[in-house]
Amino acid sequence: MAVQPTSEYFDLLNQAVSREIQVSIQYILQHAKMEKLMRKVIPENILLDKTTYEAVGKFLKEIAIQEMKHAADIMERIYYLGGSATTKSNKPVIGNSLSEFAKLGAKAEEEALVLYRKIIEAARAIGDVETREMFEKIYSQEEQHLFKFQEYVNMKDEPEGAETQPLSEWRKIFTDDYFVLLNRAVAAEISAIIQYTNQHEKASLLALREKISPLEVVTESNKAKVISDLLKKTFMVEMEHLEKISERIYLLEGECTVTPDPLPQVGETADDFVKLDHEAENIAIVLYRQIIAEALKRGDTTTRRMFEDIVLQEEEHYWSFDDFLR
Ligand SMILES: [Fe+2]
Ligand SMILES: [Fe+2]
Ligand SMILES: [Fe+2]
Ligand SMILES: [Fe+2]
Repeated sequence: MAVQPTSEYFDLLNQAVSREIQVSIQYILQHAKMEKLMRKVIPENILLDKTTYEAVGKFLKEIAIQEMKHAADIMERIYYLGGSATTKSNKPVIGNSLSEFAKLGAKAEEEALVLYRKIIEAARAIGDVETREMFEKIYSQEEQHLFKFQEYVNMKDEPEGAETQPLSEWRKIFTDDYFVLLNRAVAAEISAIIQYTNQHEKASLLALREKISPLEVVTESNKAKVISDLLKKTFMVEMEHLEKISERIYLLEGECTVTPDPLPQVGETADDFVKLDHEAENIAIVLYRQIIAEALKRGDTTTRRMFEDIVLQEEEHYWSFDDFLR
């Protein structure tokens, strides 16, 4: 008997997607903030703490990637069952210290475990074996994440009576409006990550269903498959961009936005995907050129050079999507 998912069932699965996107962004931004926290470590504990910070920083990046993989797998399953995977994220919460990261992480993982128990039960009830097995695997991984975070929950790392340092001369170029501008890049990268991940999963399903010409059947490839692969590659690059840009903002004592802008858009066909992605890259390129000009004006060489590298990659993305538009 074929599985008959209800809309409530798809709602549950999409709640899981929103949660996975949330924690993925949350952990990657916390990972990016680590470098800055490490510099605030009490001098006498520097050796001990540095090791801890490096270990947690590494762990955060690893699970951020694992969570996005969870999001992708769940999206894939939703499309496969005939539903529509969401691009909505629950709101990531970042925090200001390692112990706070751990508390927020432990809370998020506990919530996941509760939700996934419900999903495993629901999948069992309608005989959806694949989904049940997938969530059982994910469940065990979330449990490991929870235990890992719990190790750090009681760490004493809250800065005592945090001394606010006067704004030194070299920092005066980093004004609030500058952070607003840089954060538009963070928002654009988050948007691209969600959009491309979702489309990648949708495209891989379209690829299975849309083998039309004999050549496509023989080569087991078609446009949707090529686009799906391209999206996966591109998505990983955007993840690196997000990491770099947010790390820079945190090091300069700024805060990062956690919400995508523009809102991710998926589309229905492979042609829709490339059109939307082409436009997304275009928006990023225009914005990053503006950031480069602003950084140049302010004398912020490091940021300028970073965006010069990034914009080259966005141009590559732009042209790779452009190839499909003709
Ligand atoms: Fe997860
Ligand atoms: Fe997790
Ligand atoms: Fe990017
Ligand atoms: Fe890009």
